[in-house]
Amino acid sequence: MKTVHAAAVVAAAAATLCATLFAAHAIAADKPAANPNASPIYGVTIPEGYRKWELVAPALEHEPLNELRTVVGNQIAIDAYKSGKLPFPDGAVLVKLAWKFTQSPDFPSALIPGKATTVQVMVKDSKKYAASGGWGYGRFIDGKPADLAQHQTCFACHNSLVKDRDYVFTRLAP
Ligand code: HEC
Repeated sequence: MKTVHAAAVVAAAAATLCATLFAAHAIAADKPAANPNASPIYGVTIPEGYRKWELVAPALEHEPLNELRTVVGNQIAIDAYKSGKLPFPDGAVLVKLAWKFTQSPDFPSALIPGKATTVQVMVKDSKKYAASGGWGYGRFIDGKPADLAQHQTCFACHNSLVKDRDYVFTRLAP
């Protein structure tokens, strides 16, 4: 009788331990650790498949950056550009790719993309990003988000110069 009782106590204790561990796990799962691939402030990540998106426009940046840039958009963004209606609808995403330009080894007057520098992203979600004109921002270097200080500059500059174009600089290339 005594053995049975002891076994029951052990079983009960084990069950309690399991329940406790399970509860702790459930709480931990409720609060996922911050995604290391997401930008600070906004939680924006590099959108999948963006290298296949349609061209909005290229840009050339002089000294001191000396960069070639290309802005591409997802279908929602491209449709909005083509319709000419602002603001961009929720779900629009713009990505800017940038490279240091370098001399073409094949042709004297040609500059070509050299080292990739940043990938920058703007995601339209008018509710989630209401405090920053409806856009969430992300700057990535070698696939990893840049620091907090850099992300504190995005909205300020876009807001001060192109607020009237829904905070977007790049126009659809003719
Ligand atoms: C000092 C001004 C300035 C700051 C700060 C800035 N941008 Fe921009 N951004 C521009 C300009 C100008 C363009 C137009 C394209 C170009 O010249 O490269 C641009 C273009 C973009 C584009 C393409 C869509 C568009 O508006 O043309 C994205 C995406 C973008 N920036 C993201 C960011 C992110 C993310 C940050 C912060 C980490 C940021 N920008 C900070 C000036 C700025």
